[in-house]
Amino acid sequence: MLRISLFGPPNRRIQPERYVQLGLKFFKLKKSIDKIIKIQYIVRYKEIIVENVVLYFSGTGNSLKVAKDISKELKNCEIVSMARPFNFVKQYDSIGFVYPTYFWGLPKKVIEFVENVNLGNNKNAYYYSITTYGGSAGNAIYQLYELLLNKHGVKLNYGQKLKMFSNYVITYDMSEKINEITKSSNEKLIPIINSIKMKKNNSLNKLTKMFKFINNDFIKKVSDMDKDFTVNNDCTGCGICEKVCPVKNIEMDDNKPQYKHHCEQCVACIQFCHKSQ
Ligand SMILES: Cc1cc2nc3c(=O)[nH]c(=O)nc-3n(C[C@H](O)[C@H](O)[C@H](O)COP(=O)(O)O)c2cc1C
Ligand code: SF4
Ligand code: SF4
Repeated sequence: MLRISLFGPPNRRIQPERYVQLGLKFFKLKKSIDKIIKIQYIVRYKEIIVENVVLYFSGTGNSLKVAKDISKELKNCEIVSMARPFNFVKQYDSIGFVYPTYFWGLPKKVIEFVENVNLGNNKNAYYYSITTYGGSAGNAIYQLYELLLNKHGVKLNYGQKLKMFSNYVITYDMSEKINEITKSSNEKLIPIINSIKMKKNNSLNKLTKMFKFINNDFIKKVSDMDKDFTVNNDCTGCGICEKVCPVKNIEMDDNKPQYKHHCEQCVACIQFCHKSQ
């Protein structure tokens, strides 16, 4: 019977030591391929699961615009309203808070949201906040810093105020320089978003007692401040005010708005009413 040696004639056979060397080389090669596959997997996994969320409260749209601009710049970024409770079921890479300054501090809705929210498995996320304001932001960033720290043991890494136009038409007229102010706030927002993308930290101004006192007083009274709202015969019953109220404080009854006394004074109903003067 003809026997064929796979290893060639005796003088050309591979020596056993050579097998060991080849085995080791193969083992090393396999290890580095495994490493590359693992890295690719981690990168793809991160691309899929790394998510960001911007929590916003807004009456007349300034803060919503800022929240939208941030979310466009961050990958996989959700925008969530703080007007309703939110469940943190996912793990986020960054969590932002965007809201207007009300009476040199936080809006009541933002305080309630932060006090009651369960941040889930997100204690190590990057936390930042932006408050939009018209004249002076007072404590509106530091108040959030204290709330997050005291209620959740979480540190606000970065906070910035962004001057936009003031919308509080109840106490004064809207500025005629709206376009000019909007242009300037758009420009100022670019470096702020870049800082957020780079996960920068900054130091925040401490609470000013007088501003704290004024904001506390506002928070106590705000829910019932809609008692001063009146609707005259010009009202067409269009229901726009009911739709734009972020906290569902308006219900239409016989084509006239009825205020339910959990108002935030966000002035959306006044700003968007086509009959308001
Ligand atoms: C009830 C109320 C209180 C406000 N208090 C302040 C304030 O203390 N300081 C300030 O600079 N602007 C104040 N503003 C102006 C708003 O902070 C500013 O116009 C903000 O950009 C509005 O945001 P929004 O359009 O997202 O609601 C106040 C506005 C309202 C409605
Ligand atoms: S938006 Fe103005 S006109 Fe329309 S229902 Fe409300 S108050 Fe009336
Ligand atoms: S009733 Fe008007 S001011 Fe009060 S929360 Fe609703 S929209 Fe804002």
